[in-house]
Amino acid sequence: MSYPNIKLSRLRSHETFRTLVRENTLGLDDLIQPLFVYHGENIKHEIPSMPGQFQFSVDNLAEQARLLFNKGIKSVLLFGIPAHKDPQGSDTWDDEKGIIQSALRVLRQAVPDMALITDVCFCEYTDHGHCGILTKRNGRKVIDQEGTLAKLALQAASHARCGADMLAPSGMIDGAVGVIRETLDGLDFSHVPIMSYAAKYASSFYGPFRDAAEGTPQFGDRRTHQMDPANSDEALREVALDIEEGADIVMVKPALAYMDIIRRIKDSFALPTAAYNVSGEYAMVKAAAKQGWIDEKSIVLEILTSLKRAGADLIISYHASEVADWMQ
Ligand code: PBG
Repeated sequence: MSYPNIKLSRLRSHETFRTLVRENTLGLDDLIQPLFVYHGENIKHEIPSMPGQFQFSVDNLAEQARLLFNKGIKSVLLFGIPAHKDPQGSDTWDDEKGIIQSALRVLRQAVPDMALITDVCFCEYTDHGHCGILTKRNGRKVIDQEGTLAKLALQAASHARCGADMLAPSGMIDGAVGVIRETLDGLDFSHVPIMSYAAKYASSFYGPFRDAAEGTPQFGDRRTHQMDPANSDEALREVALDIEEGADIVMVKPALAYMDIIRRIKDSFALPTAAYNVSGEYAMVKAAAKQGWIDEKSIVLEILTSLKRAGADLIISYHASEVADWMQ
């Protein structure tokens, strides 16, 4: 049977029919808002390439988190920009003075029910801007993978001690998930889940984030550890390894150019899958909207709903806060 007996437009003819048969819906409980925590006091710097996103000092962060929570965004992903950078990124394991640790203590008090997820990496904390400590191999500076794992354990333990609800290792360092899981379990934090940046591509879509987090590599790039955008099977291998090492949620990043990867992972592993709608994706929408070339609200809702259709269960997006405003 075909047309005129079958007319798929029949169920599109009424708004209520459309909602009755809708396959995917976007809710505020799908969204995580990234926040940039800056050293110092009374700071609220707008990030030029990410209009509407700010670097907040710890004192201003609590207010921002409260606003988010009250309008329905109940999880945040924290990125720190420390006062002091060194070759090892030692701010990351400083329980007392570390930027993330200070933020965790304040947020824990201010918004006790907010889910506090921390980015676990080194690029914002090292003076060279790489995602781990360095060594020399054949005269070239490279990431010391083994050495970095030991430092990741210190960082993860410190975040957990200071109140992180979930850890999100983002460095694509082989073995990181396993080492973090083992560390947490050894310290009575076996209840703390890990969201792994499992399929993270060496992408140009991170440009604005590197301004925001001040984590641009001072030499070279991240192609020795982040994935080649040309690859897809390899993403499944990355995810399989991270699951074996104990990842509870796996992430695909960036989101828009990688929706096929989200779908393959969701179909292959059927576990909670996150999409990171990254800084460059946000910046492009903001720039076009500012020109009046697109309708921002409908574009953003279309993008985020499409990520759910692609198979994402949760979405990290700089638009989360605005989506909450639109859904009030
Ligand atoms: C690394 C990290 C990056 C992003 C999140 N975590 C940058 C990178 O890998 O260079 C990018 C996020 C974005 O672009 O929004 N700590």
